[in-house]
Amino acid sequence: MGSVLLTGGTGFIGSHTAVELLLAGRDVVLLDDLSNSEAGVAERIGRIAGRQPPFVRADAADRRALRRVFLDWDIEAVVHFAGFKAVGESAARPLAYYRNNLDSALSLLETMAEFGCRRFIFSSSATVYGERCPVPYREDMPAGDCSSPYGRTKYMIEEILKDAAAADGSLSVVLLRYFNPIGAHESGLIGEKPSGIPNNLMPYITQVAAGLRPRLNVFGNDYPTRDGTCVRDYIHVTDLARGHLAALGFAEAHRGTEIFNLGTGRGFSVLEVVRAFGEATGQPVPFEFAPRRPGDLPEFYADASKAEAVLGWRAEKSLADMCRDSWRWQQNALKQD
Ligand code: UFG
Repeated sequence: MGSVLLTGGTGFIGSHTAVELLLAGRDVVLLDDLSNSEAGVAERIGRIAGRQPPFVRADAADRRALRRVFLDWDIEAVVHFAGFKAVGESAARPLAYYRNNLDSALSLLETMAEFGCRRFIFSSSATVYGERCPVPYREDMPAGDCSSPYGRTKYMIEEILKDAAAADGSLSVVLLRYFNPIGAHESGLIGEKPSGIPNNLMPYITQVAAGLRPRLNVFGNDYPTRDGTCVRDYIHVTDLARGHLAALGFAEAHRGTEIFNLGTGRGFSVLEVVRAFGEATGQPVPFEFAPRRPGDLPEFYADASKAEAVLGWRAEKSLADMCRDSWRWQQNALKQD
């Protein structure tokens, strides 16, 4: 068997997926430009997995660098995590988001065609369902009504991949629509490290618990949900990573494009997450209500039944596990700085 190329391999989801693939006996090559992660992550992946994967520092849109990788290793599949991912920033810098996210997907597809690599697993997002889809989101609902340029890059890349697979019957494309990944590896060695003020809920909560920020702003308490705060489908990043292992196995036996939601199928409100964090860690999280954040939908969660039926995968870890592992990582990350 050849190697699996992980673009964004030292990022949050890429690093956890690298660990799970290595532990399952797969060889991986990590590619990352380190624009939103650190080189030390590659070494820590190796420490957890007991074997050091090769690391290449390069932009996933850089065709020369990609050719080098495909010449140096027998790449049998690509899992494409690399990309700009901040929803708010994407509205301020749309061209940078379209250029960066679309270019890397196209460069990868062109390089794969040149080297005869036939399997592409793509990190998509539940954001492609948009506000018109009722919850729970199912893979066969019409997608594309996204609320941000970031979301539209995900949807456009999905469409590019579908077209590529339709034109080349030997290509196997798997679109994985992630819900809200949180948590960290239970070793405490890898996790999410946002630069600056965190945009996402869990990194903000752990920074408040660590005393780095005075309180959490809960964006909106007048949504039509059970307690007025937004509901999301939070999934442990290790569960999500294992979903990629299942998707790779699927891609080996199939052709064409297949879409899978990677979520738990269960939603929690912001206030429920805050409460669960306090109970799981013993750390209180002071908060206050703040105005709604533009673009937030009141409630979304996955219908996770297709991944279970077809891939034999489902999320196993609880919200308490997610909170404990996020907190352990926050404490470790602080020690490293
Ligand atoms: N929230 C707060 N305070 C914060 C941060 C978040 O109350 O400081 C709330 C948000 O309003 C939202 C919930 O916590 O209700 C979750 O917010 P996140 O930013 O953690 O996650 P989102 O659901 O907004 O983001 C996710 C994915 C994106 C995707 C987006 C589409 O991370 O990739 O959904 O809505 F594009």
